[in-house]
Amino acid sequence: MPDPIATNRQHWESRVALHAASAEYGLDTFRSDPNHLSGVVRFDRERLGDIAGRDVVHLQCHIGTDTLSLARLGARVTGLDFSPSAIEVARSLSETAQPHVDYVVATVDDAVSALGGRQFDLVYTGIGALCWIPKITSWAATVAALLRPGGELFIREAHPVVWALDDPRSDGLVALEYPYFETDGVVAEATVTYVDHEDALESPRLIHFNHGLGEIFAALTAVGLSVIDYVEHDTIPWRPLGDAMVDVGGGEFRLMDRPERIPMSYTLRAVRNGSAH
Ligand SMILES: C[S@@+](CC[C@H](N)C(=O)[O-])C[C@H]1O[C@@H](n2cnc3c(N)ncnc32)[C@H](O)[C@@H]1O
Repeated sequence: MPDPIATNRQHWESRVALHAASAEYGLDTFRSDPNHLSGVVRFDRERLGDIAGRDVVHLQCHIGTDTLSLARLGARVTGLDFSPSAIEVARSLSETAQPHVDYVVATVDDAVSALGGRQFDLVYTGIGALCWIPKITSWAATVAALLRPGGELFIREAHPVVWALDDPRSDGLVALEYPYFETDGVVAEATVTYVDHEDALESPRLIHFNHGLGEIFAALTAVGLSVIDYVEHDTIPWRPLGDAMVDVGGGEFRLMDRPERIPMSYTLRAVRNGSAH
């Protein structure tokens, strides 16, 4: 098995320019409209509550559209991603579009030292983040270490069943092909990314990981986090089943035929045990 971090970093480096130029990420709209928020943060807003004045770290922040949106809700935000190109785009977006966001290039596993041991009120992550994390127990330990006592993890993520799906089938059946539980990873080749583009990705090789819900809940509990909210959604902000998904607005997609068959995504909130003072 090739080194997943090095392989996946190279893969993500090859996606950044395509995402930064895409209509889907819409960087120009962030620059022209100071009130514009990403669809992801608009979806999360009600469950997030008022985050004005809170210290937030956004893990796997990519090119910073959700990160900037959190800052526009009044939070003091730090974004972290292991892709230097993604962080370069994110920094330049926050400088040209405002407000200011701090950014750090690091892996999630190195986040605690890269952030100098700082602790936050909120760890925000998701939307295609956990599938790049090899060990959910290490991830959970990092989340706990980044939170002050009483601080909160907020994650909206693809349901692990979605990562286990086979490619769309012509007979409309939804079929499971890949692991639901955590394994040593699945090596794959992706020549396209999830925005419209013509050129093939320069570094197609990637290594995906899944983590079952029980594994996620157990990992959080083991490091002293209590789940306070868990909700499953029949929509997701991309098309895991291609043309079998219908655009329902707000950047969300739902299975066209009998969407009640599958949870597409979930929102989980967990609080670090211990008194805030
Ligand atoms: C699908 S994106 C996250 C999506 C983000 N919500 C968005 O669309 O703006 C996944 C991000 O995870 C980052 N990433 C993957 N593995 C990582 C790791 N081990 N440590 C830090 N960042 C990682 C990639 O560079 C990429 O920016």
